[in-house]
Amino acid sequence: MALFHAEELLHYLSGLRFGHPIYLYRTIGSTNDEAKLLADSGAPEGLLVIAEEQTAGRGRLGRTWITPLGQALAISLVLRPGHLPVDQATQLTMLAGLAVCQAVEQVTGLQPQLKWPNDVLLSGKKVAGLLLETALRGDQLDYAVLGIGLNVNFAPPPETVDFPATSLQAEARTELDRLLVLRALLERLAALYPEVGTPDQALYQAWSARLALVGQAIVVRTADGDQSGVLEGVTPEGALLLKLAGGQTIKLLAGDVRLRPASEVDS
Ligand code: BTN
Repeated sequence: MALFHAEELLHYLSGLRFGHPIYLYRTIGSTNDEAKLLADSGAPEGLLVIAEEQTAGRGRLGRTWITPLGQALAISLVLRPGHLPVDQATQLTMLAGLAVCQAVEQVTGLQPQLKWPNDVLLSGKKVAGLLLETALRGDQLDYAVLGIGLNVNFAPPPETVDFPATSLQAEARTELDRLLVLRALLERLAALYPEVGTPDQALYQAWSARLALVGQAIVVRTADGDQSGVLEGVTPEGALLLKLAGGQTIKLLAGDVRLRPASEVDS
């Protein structure tokens, strides 16, 4: 297991749009918490927090995210997309999901998919999760912290997760250099960032093209209970389109998707 060396990291990431400044921690609670503190004190767009290990890594819906020392990528990037209307902030989740997919594809040759709203899958199993947290100034976006957890050479044990998990190492059948993956990820984030907030929907279309489980029977866990149906797609605003048994299509703004077991699907 190789840990990051600060000088090597700075050298290898120099010249990129994101990753200036870099805060590298051996152990931290959550990189998102640290990035938010720094952003609250005026940190610039591009600031990156990296942790070798997180002791209080957070996922969506209050879940825990495991980052064991030196085996995964746990990063949080501060963005200040002043031009982006608050109701379009989901585009930042699309940006991150797509960037992770493209970086993984570049480094491993594998073809990741996206699971709504913010998971990255390989072979139908979760390899990365995204946690976008935003802060407002008045009615404008002040900053966004894009938290990305990528299982590089480690996958959490089945009993600790709600959805099957995997790692790049398990899927590519070789140990991966985390620095290589990190650089590819920051490059892809920077390349796609100008698409955020543009009217042409290129980001949305590229994201949709990788959407997993389209046409399949799924269950969506929402705050109001479970909804079953067939996944039809996602709107440009980021809402899930679910076709119910009666033929009606509904939009869901938040929730958690899983495949509906074959035993429950009407024939
Ligand atoms: C999820 O799958 O629910 C999202 C997981 C996000 C995990 C990343 S790891 C880096 C950053 N710091 C955190 O505490 N969470 C995110």
